[in-house]
Amino acid sequence: MFSIKDSGLSNVWTHATDIVADHGKGVYIYDTKGVEYLDFTSGIGVTNTGHCHPKVVSAIGKQAESLIFGQMNIVVHNPILKLVEKLKKIVPKGLDKFFFANSGAEAVEAAVKLAKQSTGRSNVIVFQGSFHGRTHLTMSMTTSKTVYRTQYQPLVSGIFVSPYPYSFYYGWDDDETSRFAIKELERLLLTQTAPKETACIIIEPVLGEGGYVVPPRGFLKTVREICNEHGIILIADEIQSGFGRTGKYFAIQHEDVVPDIMTMAKGMASGMPLSGIAYKHDLEKNWIQGSHGGTYGGNPVCCAAAVATIDVLEEEKLVENAALRGKQLKEGLNKLKQQDSRIGDVRGLGLMIATEFVKDNEPDPETAKAVIKEAAAQKLLLLGCGTYGNVVRWIPPLIVNEEQIDEALEIFGDALGKI
Ligand SMILES: Cc1ncc(COP(=O)(O)O)c(C=O)c1O
Repeated sequence: MFSIKDSGLSNVWTHATDIVADHGKGVYIYDTKGVEYLDFTSGIGVTNTGHCHPKVVSAIGKQAESLIFGQMNIVVHNPILKLVEKLKKIVPKGLDKFFFANSGAEAVEAAVKLAKQSTGRSNVIVFQGSFHGRTHLTMSMTTSKTVYRTQYQPLVSGIFVSPYPYSFYYGWDDDETSRFAIKELERLLLTQTAPKETACIIIEPVLGEGGYVVPPRGFLKTVREICNEHGIILIADEIQSGFGRTGKYFAIQHEDVVPDIMTMAKGMASGMPLSGIAYKHDLEKNWIQGSHGGTYGGNPVCCAAAVATIDVLEEEKLVENAALRGKQLKEGLNKLKQQDSRIGDVRGLGLMIATEFVKDNEPDPETAKAVIKEAAAQKLLLLGCGTYGNVVRWIPPLIVNEEQIDEALEIFGDALGKI
């Protein structure tokens, strides 16, 4: 009998399921026995165009036949140039320079390094509950759970944490939560990291691992104003929320706020390892040439996949579909909430939606875990998140249709009834 534990794979990985995946198509993933699963995880927000979209597959194949690798310090190539042209049309206006890497954490590293050299300042402000990656720098910036940093100390210094405006957690309305979080951010700048020492403030425009939290309207604008006042770089970490996930190309576009730097990964290349930053060209006056880079960043096959991904998002109107199907999903979940007091909150933007479980006003991870397990037994794959593990996140591919949303809601309702 196969067991992942004895397979020779490192035990450092956690596994949400013991599925041995054979192939994927659209919203479905299949195991080696041909069992079909409705994949509402999208590989943690990666396969936004669905598994193996034919246009993405074809672009990868074609590019692999002509050039698999062209190292950026030696040559540039057409796929990366095309990608830059495509990205310029969809990122917030004003971001006109691009650097590419392979993973989300590397994009965050690049963003912070750029912020440090362009300001000549050393410190970084992050928000409580954020997830920015697992390298030493990004782990030090990650505050969603202690597991990501336990026994890896000492952490990188100069990182300061401000509260994320998480209204449901605090039990306050949005205005009060926003006021509190802004006050604490301003206090941090008075008490722990002076503005003249603060290079950047980095924020997930929708908190991801930390619980799929949408900040109150206006919060991001106020953070932008604070950054403007003090010459601090604002970095939007759109690694999970980008590429149409929230019903706009990037979540920060819901608020009309333009960051100085934006990080991207996950949904960018439909599963090929590609990440990047988009930034305002003024910033790079002080980014010392040669002080950052990497062997593989901007790989031609990955860039070709990203170009095809953006084409598919446009041609199939997937950003609009995310908004539409997200509305349907949220309405369905809100109906379940009315019938089941264990669901304390339903929130989110587009197809980045959370159901938060509580018991006696306290986080209830047991129910969240049990419902995810029961849904998987019924062939619906869901993921958890949140500091307490009491949030179920809904993150299906953006190609999901009305029937598949209904089917997932039915399974979820049935699973809840069984636990
Ligand atoms: C918002 C955010 N930033 C950064 C990362 C790190 O990305 P990666 O795992 O590709 O390094 C993640 C991954 O989940 C993320 O959600």
